[in-house]
Amino acid sequence: MIVYYTGTGNSRYCAQMLADKLEDELLDSFQFIKNGISAELSSSTPWVFVSPTYCWQLPHIFEDFIRRSRFEGCKEAYFVMTCGSDIGNAGDKIQNLCEEVGLTFKGVLPVVMPENYIAMFEVPQSEIAKRIVLVAKRSLIRAVKLIQKGERFPERKVHLLDKFKSGPLNPFFYKVFVKANAFYATDACIGCGKCANTCVMNNISIKDGKPEWGDACTHCMACICGCPTEAIEYGKKSLGKPRYMCEEYQK
Ligand SMILES: Cc1cc2nc3c(=O)[nH]c(=O)nc-3n(C[C@H](O)[C@H](O)[C@H](O)COP(=O)(O)O)c2cc1C
Ligand code: SF4
Ligand code: SF4
Repeated sequence: MIVYYTGTGNSRYCAQMLADKLEDELLDSFQFIKNGISAELSSSTPWVFVSPTYCWQLPHIFEDFIRRSRFEGCKEAYFVMTCGSDIGNAGDKIQNLCEEVGLTFKGVLPVVMPENYIAMFEVPQSEIAKRIVLVAKRSLIRAVKLIQKGERFPERKVHLLDKFKSGPLNPFFYKVFVKANAFYATDACIGCGKCANTCVMNNISIKDGKPEWGDACTHCMACICGCPTEAIEYGKKSLGKPRYMCEEYQK
């Protein structure tokens, strides 16, 4: 079974493609995480967990979801982490997580997809994004072959800098940068409520027809990138940048 979490669709796209090629079931963890509930799942095929990379690790909310859920049947677990450039040394912590929940770690595969972090970085224009997705599809095909043969994903060389990024830098980054206080809605807001519905953290409420942000943000970028009128900005960082939302996978 393919189990995924996504903010702006990259990981959903990869999960959909994996489910298609492996002819396997697909499960979106969104409602489980949004409603704070654990999942009790069973699969006769290997588990494939697909998620974005947040600060060179699995997103904390996806890691917590895996930790509190039960995975019966097959015990093998593959991880696919979509990223803008690299996942650092995410594999070590994932291996420990697998041991904790009784799964056998079969490796983690970084898949470079378009950068979505518009609150921090530049994001690619749509033509470049399409090219990045084409390259990503080739790595996913290789991943499918490995999973079908029951082989591990290739071992990755980990350098000191990777250990630093996934180690001390990860909690530092969350503490210092992952905050909702710079979000605001402009006059383009039509009060549709989509941002509140798509917030996995329930961190947005609509008051007097406009969104207000609380303190529980995980910087998934779903609200700012999914707004139909592009009414959401993040301080000055997002001004003039294209909003990024990955298209649905087509067979
Ligand atoms: C909060 C946050 C942190 C991120 N950290 C990293 C990172 O450490 N390394 C990286 O290569 N990309 C990083 N990215 C980029 C995303 O991992 C990448 O664009 C991913 O494919 C987005 O997936 P999604 O569309 O499924 O949400 C980060 C993005 C966000 C929003
Ligand atoms: S999604 Fe955009 S238009 Fe809709 S309520 Fe939120 S900010 Fe306003
Ligand atoms: S407030 Fe926006 S960026 Fe933060 S978790 Fe919710 S949808 Fe994601």
